Amino acid sequence: MLKDGVLLEAVNEERFNRNKLTQDSPRMAVKYLLEKYKLRMDDIDCVATHGALDPSQMHLNQFLIKEKEIISSEISNQKEQLISLWSRYAREKYVRNVRTKNHLASLREFRDELKIYKHHHCHAASAAYMSGFDECHVLTMDGWGEDGSATWNEFKAFDLVVLDRTPTFSSLGYFYGAITKFLGFTPHKDEGKTLGMSAYGDSQLLYPIFSKMIKYNSKKKTFDGLYEEGIYVADFDNPNLSRVLEGYKKEDIAAAAQKILEDVVVDFLNDRMDKPGNLAVAGGIFANILLNKKIIESTPVKSIYIFPHMGDGGLSHGAAMLCHREVSSKPFVPPKTMYLGSGFSDEEIEEELIKCGVSYEAPQDVEEEVATLLVDRNVVAVVSGRMEYGPRALGGRSVLVHPNDRKLANWVNKQLQRPDFMPFGPVTLAEEASKYYLDIERYYPNTSFMTIGVMCTDFMKEHCEGCVHVDGTARPQLISMDQNPAYYKILKQFFKKTGIATLINTSFNIHEEPIVCTPEDAIRSIKSTNIQYLMIGKFLVHNTGTESS
Ligand SMILES: [Fe+2]
Repeated sequence: MLKDGVLLEAVNEERFNRNKLTQDSPRMAVKYLLEKYKLRMDDIDCVATHGALDPSQMHLNQFLIKEKEIISSEISNQKEQLISLWSRYAREKYVRNVRTKNHLASLREFRDELKIYKHHHCHAASAAYMSGFDECHVLTMDGWGEDGSATWNEFKAFDLVVLDRTPTFSSLGYFYGAITKFLGFTPHKDEGKTLGMSAYGDSQLLYPIFSKMIKYNSKKKTFDGLYEEGIYVADFDNPNLSRVLEGYKKEDIAAAAQKILEDVVVDFLNDRMDKPGNLAVAGGIFANILLNKKIIESTPVKSIYIFPHMGDGGLSHGAAMLCHREVSSKPFVPPKTMYLGSGFSDEEIEEELIKCGVSYEAPQDVEEEVATLLVDRNVVAVVSGRMEYGPRALGGRSVLVHPNDRKLANWVNKQLQRPDFMPFGPVTLAEEASKYYLDIERYYPNTSFMTIGVMCTDFMKEHCEGCVHVDGTARPQLISMDQNPAYYKILKQFFKKTGIATLINTSFNIHEEPIVCTPEDAIRSIKSTNIQYLMIGKFLVHNTGTESS
């Protein structure tokens, strides 16, 4: 919700209907916004979304070129690859004609006339307008969004121009998602598990095979899914993988997939950027923190801005930006934090605590109390201020843990049903960051949002073992007082007591559920885990059903 260039609120329906990555109509989110701001639908000037349905965007010609490349190849599974290519075309057509139409119809419940923008244009706008750059390149990459799987854009004087578009059948998102599925995880959701696992493997063993799947094609100026080599298809179900990956270790498969992803994107940027410049990025691929790290380290990119809600949940933000640009002359003011969602007053919280029948107290200095609990190796869930917009919990809805206790970290993994090979993210006092991370300023401002991997110092490795990955990297959130005072105070007190300016920060949700939204969600969630304490507003709840860790 945007007013005169100010982003008032940004929330996803999943937080209200409690169905992660829901594609339902945002009825509950809209109701929430209207109630909170005491508005009626008639008070809203414009409703914007993604889902452009221009028939020319089917790009038949590109499919025909790829068909020719497959036919002129000498692969034995030529017929299957052709079927797969044209199934992608049929699927694209179906989704455009049915799913997208349904999506738009559901939004017409709110407003008959919609402002509709292209999927990748929304991704690009979300990153460009939030970046604060006056001018920059913009790269979007995902599995597939309407008319492509990647775009390359220029942003200048608040105008966004698309230069190139990679077709849907040459998708890096499908490449990485198919590997994710092959490894036994859920594609479109668990790519982070493939990333976490990659650090345990040898990327070289399968590199020659994976380099026959997808590459950057400098002639076409796009990514290129290599159907004609017989292995790649643009689908999460890739029948060719079991043929070529049989007998290899999962960790080596993940490592090679990660290396190819990084190398292909680095090749693209090295070719497309002839001089150092700024880059803004969005699209699900950029949830990959090691890819983001590689971009800043191995390309002409001087400064990168990764839109923190990079997946499709952030498209609404991009649509709002494009709509604002179209209808208003006021400048857009990028918010400094991602605390853009629901918040609750202490009165509302106390009412809910009473209703849920939990015992609670209101300590004089709740942050100090929480820091003491953390020093004593208790696990504390925190609901503080407004909810974060995007997939990362940044202290608004987080679970905090002592950073130097592997046993405790494993216990938390068990409670939250996370696999042990997945690294935890650390939160660190911004003013102490250089003691914990190497060359940290190079990665700003993304270090406020846990969207980029950085190398840890020996001090960090020694004192914060629970949130350093096996490859020596971490995905930090640096916190300052102005961003989230309560969260900052907890960490500051912890630092005073231990000399360590870092805690483990993981998202406050129970397995498969979205991050908690309301006090009611928070109370229900701690009851279903053995997390010992919940700090909620100024209150502290002791979860009495707790088992010993
Ligand atoms: Fe997307």
